[in-house]
Amino acid sequence: MKTCAVVLAAGLGKRMKSATPKVVHNLLGRPVVTYPVEAVKAVTGVSKIVLVIGRHSEDKLKAIFKDDPVVSFAYQENLLGTADALKSGLGCLNGEQFDYTVVTTADAPLIRGETLQGLIDTHISGGNAVTVLSFVSKNPSSYGRLIRNPDGTLKGIVENPDATEEERKINEVNSGIYVFSQHALPLLDMIQVNAKKGEFYLTDIVSVAAEHGLRVDAQKMLDEDEFIGINSRAELLQALNALKRRINRHWMDEGVTLMDENTTLISSSVSIGRDTIIYPNVILEGKTIIGEGCVIYPNVRIVDSIIERDVVVKDSTLIEDSKIDSGAAVGPFAHLRPGAVIGKKAKVGNFVEIKKSTLGNNTKASHLSYIGDAAVGDNVNIGAGTITCNYDGVNKFKTVIEDGVFIGSDSQLVAPVTVGKGAFVGAGSTITHDVPADALAISRVRQRTIIDWVKAKFKK
Ligand code: UD1
Ligand code: CA
Repeated sequence: MKTCAVVLAAGLGKRMKSATPKVVHNLLGRPVVTYPVEAVKAVTGVSKIVLVIGRHSEDKLKAIFKDDPVVSFAYQENLLGTADALKSGLGCLNGEQFDYTVVTTADAPLIRGETLQGLIDTHISGGNAVTVLSFVSKNPSSYGRLIRNPDGTLKGIVENPDATEEERKINEVNSGIYVFSQHALPLLDMIQVNAKKGEFYLTDIVSVAAEHGLRVDAQKMLDEDEFIGINSRAELLQALNALKRRINRHWMDEGVTLMDENTTLISSSVSIGRDTIIYPNVILEGKTIIGEGCVIYPNVRIVDSIIERDVVVKDSTLIEDSKIDSGAAVGPFAHLRPGAVIGKKAKVGNFVEIKKSTLGNNTKASHLSYIGDAAVGDNVNIGAGTITCNYDGVNKFKTVIEDGVFIGSDSQLVAPVTVGKGAFVGAGSTITHDVPADALAISRVRQRTIIDWVKAKFKK
């Protein structure tokens, strides 16, 4: 059994009023279109996915899927409607035949692989030519209505502008997702242009097939959320809320405590260990992995990072492309920029920024520091206000701070520079030369104290 999938994504999405194609808009950290593509990948037997692209969406969609070997692109020359889009998609198969073709719209991101699998199973077991995935909608006006014969068999699909008053009352609507058998595809050529919109509607394949005596059927679903189609910003938010809820419920079921379901945004690519506690207003994005027993305090955003177990991330902290080892504490108001690697039980405190640097186990940078391009060993104490001067305006240089070093507060380390094992740097120093192990380096001006200077100056 050979199956291919065609994902229709050539439209611009006028109702979004956006310069960005609708299906490229961000939904919980990922473009909308990546969701249906992922869902069709989960269907057994799908060996090819064709993404139908158009003038407006071409560059961005090609960029999103450039490293995906399963996705190929078909170009729809003119946006002549969903039936024309499918024809463009099939046109790029170079005559390769598939027993079944799954078609999905690219703007319905909540669709699950299991649902598509169920649809194709129904299609095959029913011996259908066309199977439509339908759902019951409380607010059906932005979807096509399913028209059934008195005996319940499917007669056709009518779009809202073309529907009669009576038909508009129907609440079973088209999801824009279908399965076609090979022999149904030639019917695409029989679809007539819709006079009102000047487009060829894929929905019309249902009535054409029924008129030709082919088996058409609909699989009716009851969970409306899974089929939300995004045509406007309001529907984008509706989809976001539904997806957020689905993901948040999943993590609660897996043993994660959420303190506020509404303001916790977790991308579908994130994973979280048991007994982790997440406070309100937390955003977890990308390929972030969080271990067991962590606490993530409010207003934290973590992107593409690995957080091992028992880590505490305190309020208002941003962590990007970084790794934090177990038992460490980061924040409040810390910024881990790409390439920060924080050791076991290390501490990164208030207003500390770390970039492309390693901090060893038990090392502390508790206050107001910038650490960039540095390798910091274990058990190091970095005093308040320490700065690695890693950039001379042209090049970046490395700072090495070996195990057990003590850097006094308000010191600057002018890279390239190495502070050897166990050495001390006196507070307020500007270190421009390497400091040997166990040495004390101090570069501040010696203090002068003039007794009774104030009296002498002001009390004449
Ligand atoms: C479509 C269905 C409607 C269904 C709804 C489900 C038709 C005529 N109507 O309506 O019955 O209830 O989806 O969400 O099919 N596209 C192209 N090329 C085109 C036109 C559209 O690739 O020429 C793509 C769009 O990018 C989009 C998808 O097809 O991803 C659906 O198009 P859209 O304009 O959103 O259709 P709806 O009006 O939502
Ligand atoms: Ca749509």
